[in-house]
Amino acid sequence: MTSDDAFEYANDDLAAGGLRLDALARAHGTPLYVYAGDHVRARLGRLRRAFAAAPDLLVAYSVKANPSLAVIRLLARDGAGADVVSGGELTRALRAGVPAERVVFSGTGKREDELAAALDAGILCFNVEAEAELEALSRLAAARGVRAGVALRVNPDTDARTHHYIATGKRVNKFGVPWEQAPDLYRRAASLPGLAPRGLDCHIGSQLTSLEPFAEALGRVRDLALALRKDGLPLDLLDVGGGLGVRYTDERPPAVEDYARTVLEALGDLGVRLVVEPGRWLVAEAGALVTRVLYVKENRGKRFLVVDAGMNDLMRPALYGAQHGLVALRRGGGSVVADVVGPLCETGDFLVAGREVPDARPGDLLAVLGAGAYARSMASNYNSRPRAAEVLVLDGAAHLVQARETIDDLLARERVPDCLTG
Ligand code: LLP
Repeated sequence: MTSDDAFEYANDDLAAGGLRLDALARAHGTPLYVYAGDHVRARLGRLRRAFAAAPDLLVAYSVKANPSLAVIRLLARDGAGADVVSGGELTRALRAGVPAERVVFSGTGKREDELAAALDAGILCFNVEAEAELEALSRLAAARGVRAGVALRVNPDTDARTHHYIATGKRVNKFGVPWEQAPDLYRRAASLPGLAPRGLDCHIGSQLTSLEPFAEALGRVRDLALALRKDGLPLDLLDVGGGLGVRYTDERPPAVEDYARTVLEALGDLGVRLVVEPGRWLVAEAGALVTRVLYVKENRGKRFLVVDAGMNDLMRPALYGAQHGLVALRRGGGSVVADVVGPLCETGDFLVAGREVPDARPGDLLAVLGAGAYARSMASNYNSRPRAAEVLVLDGAAHLVQARETIDDLLARERVPDCLTG
């Protein structure tokens, strides 16, 4: 761990913002997500400083990474906007106090009711991904007597060199419009009564650990932007998406300063408003999933630590083969090679597979690191497991920002039809 870490040991006990995680686990139970709010704020500040040469920068936090109202609010208070991909995320962003003029709406499958809600809210920009979506949006906007700000999401046919489930910028992916078609579609957008085309958008994938794919895609965006301008089309905004990777175990992602330099070198002289949509980089490393060891067992020489968090709390290992760091809340014990598995009835239910982990005993507490992004937001109720609580640590105080679900919450919307109960 380094000084940039959200969690550090104080007298051998893991702490966030000066508060011991074992105390939080005792107070709120396990599994428990703990977010270091000061770390999130520091990241936003560092990102802004990296982009200081782009004074009109909009940091549209990608809400999907961690949609906690408290986290969105924390970032919004420091000037961030929101990148949303559903009506639900739009509602969250607005309720958390993000001004509509700092919201961009991304996503391949926006329903008309979702487009309408965003129009009524008056958001900054729709990142549109298909000709039919341009037409639907124009119709809805014209009926309201407004023009919707639009950025055309282009698919630059760039290999982001990340897990293939989270690469979005290759020609075979569903995202965006082929860049060769972008000029025609942009002209079409400019001809529609309800649209005000403002620029281009591009997001090539997530957890990128090298700058080259960014540079390649941005070069293409730059060429397109210059061509559109040459045709006399309006263009005052470029959205470069998110995707900057973080270090989970031994990755070496680029520094945000180098990322910013790459963006600014490609687009900085175009005199447009830049939008970035970081999710993971802002919040992943600020989060830990605290879990308790239930049992330790050895099956034919293979050791398993059975813990009370599972793939429903963190599905990244099962879904992407993701490797998250795992540490003991109480430092100083030995280590052992083991699988750390949850209580769910799936062999894919593991948090760590075959790595060196703390040599823990039943009752001990462990923390899965890098759990601030795409952890609680992808959690499910599989095996009828209520989703875990979330605590935000800020300025030395802990706040329960989402209570643990109960089984009654899960059952509240279910009905058994009378014909089955007679
Ligand atoms: N903008 C758009 C249009 C996106 O689709 C995404 C992420 C982002 C921004 C934010 O990307 P970030 O900065 O967080 O990399 N569940 C996966 C990640 C899926 C990302 C989806 N899109 C995971 O756990 O790795």
